[in-house]
Amino acid sequence: MLEMNGQFDERLPLYEKVAGKISFLIEKGTLRPGDKVPSIRNLSKQMQVSINTVKEAYSLLEDRRLLEARPQSGYYVRARLPELPAEPVVDRPDINPAEVSLSKVYQEVMMDFHDQNLLQLGIAVPNIDLLPVEKLHRMLAREIRRFPTQAVSYDLPPGNLRLRKQVAQRLLLSGCTLSPDQIVITSGCVEAVVLSLRTLCKPGDAVAIETPVYFNFLQMIEDLGLKALEIPASPRGGISLEALEYALERNAGEVKACIVLSNFNNPLGSKMSDEDKQRLVQLLDGHQVPLIEDDIYGDLSYSDDRPSVAKAYDKTGNVLLCSSFSKTVAPGYRVGWIAAGRYQKQIERGKMLGSVACASPPQLAIAEFLANGGYDHHLRSIRRVYARQAAQMGDAIGRAFPEGTRVSRPQGGFVLWVEMPEGVDSILLYKKAKSHGVAIAPGSIFSVDGKYRNCIRLNAASWAPAVEVAIDTLGKLAAEQLNSSSR
Ligand SMILES: Cc1ncc(COP(=O)(O)O)c(C=O)c1O
Repeated sequence: MLEMNGQFDERLPLYEKVAGKISFLIEKGTLRPGDKVPSIRNLSKQMQVSINTVKEAYSLLEDRRLLEARPQSGYYVRARLPELPAEPVVDRPDINPAEVSLSKVYQEVMMDFHDQNLLQLGIAVPNIDLLPVEKLHRMLAREIRRFPTQAVSYDLPPGNLRLRKQVAQRLLLSGCTLSPDQIVITSGCVEAVVLSLRTLCKPGDAVAIETPVYFNFLQMIEDLGLKALEIPASPRGGISLEALEYALERNAGEVKACIVLSNFNNPLGSKMSDEDKQRLVQLLDGHQVPLIEDDIYGDLSYSDDRPSVAKAYDKTGNVLLCSSFSKTVAPGYRVGWIAAGRYQKQIERGKMLGSVACASPPQLAIAEFLANGGYDHHLRSIRRVYARQAAQMGDAIGRAFPEGTRVSRPQGGFVLWVEMPEGVDSILLYKKAKSHGVAIAPGSIFSVDGKYRNCIRLNAASWAPAVEVAIDTLGKLAAEQLNSSSR
């Protein structure tokens, strides 16, 4: 009989709990590499769960590269457990607001996306092969036929009611009880964040952001004439609340908004705990600084347990929650939304002024997909693939990159943050990599003043032999740089 201790979150689905218990035994060395694990039938008896639950759990552990199936023999602990490189350590920035001036490299990285000859590891786009393309387009055609006049008319802010109802229903899973009237449909998540910044700030104001941060936020801050106040974040738990508190006190009155990616941050992959989300909301409330929460990756948790959002703890309407279906369903449909709390009317007005309305057909299609397209089923399958691929890419980086390289271990999303030894210059690496047909995102574009020069962000949304070769090439190029700098 297996002795299984370890604490597990009771809300997890049963198969995750079973998988968690087996991982616990592997972690503690009770089950060692090469050991046979109990047969599906035995474990189902021992744990009094169904055969299917154990099958699901074992398949999850295969995805996590802890178990391997041997034909006719059963499941074994992998002889070589993934040896993940250490996680990155992120620098502490100055806690003073700074003007943003993004480099030419940023423009170049954005332009790379148009180059069909490059293997795209630099931009955080989902794997198109994992999107429900056929089904979505069928639904789009059907919805246009069903609602011909609505499809060609303005759907004025707050936007399509059926879609807002679907979004409100799904928000229950993130811990929010909101009515459709508290949601505005936007053109992607980017528009939701821009509308928020325009509503909350005027030129010269400061915005607190995590560092490193998704570079488009820096671009927005620059374009709106704002200043960025960079707050350190860790690859595990996200923004440092102590540093944020200190920075808010030092810059009292100057900070007019704070942008946080609470779940599976881009680029670090961090996820804040529920306690920290609650503390964040209270801290910002106390300083009367609105929170712009970007939860675009929240649905891509590697476990089936959808994390909560900070908005769930918002009692005063101080949180503007922004998201979209760009990472999960169709970036090209440009369907996003915002639950803007006490700023709802201003956001509706801003949307109306800026673009009158979002295109109607994509709203109809996404509403139908959420209602009848099997969105949850779709999420379950893509989450698994992304979890497996992030682990595969992390492993490959560990093998190919110079000693001392660190890699994030996200629990959701599909980007990896790679911190190489100090002697590697990621801009040089970026240029060299392009000459080998590979596009990457150099670390310096994720901060105000070119920090993270020895870091890169990679997109792990696809795993194929060409990607494996690219990782190998990047590792060799990084090692060459180190060797030539030590000569
Ligand atoms: C954190 C974050 N927010 C927003 C976006 C863009 O979202 P959308 O395409 O829905 O405007 C991205 C895309 O990379 C992102 O990573």
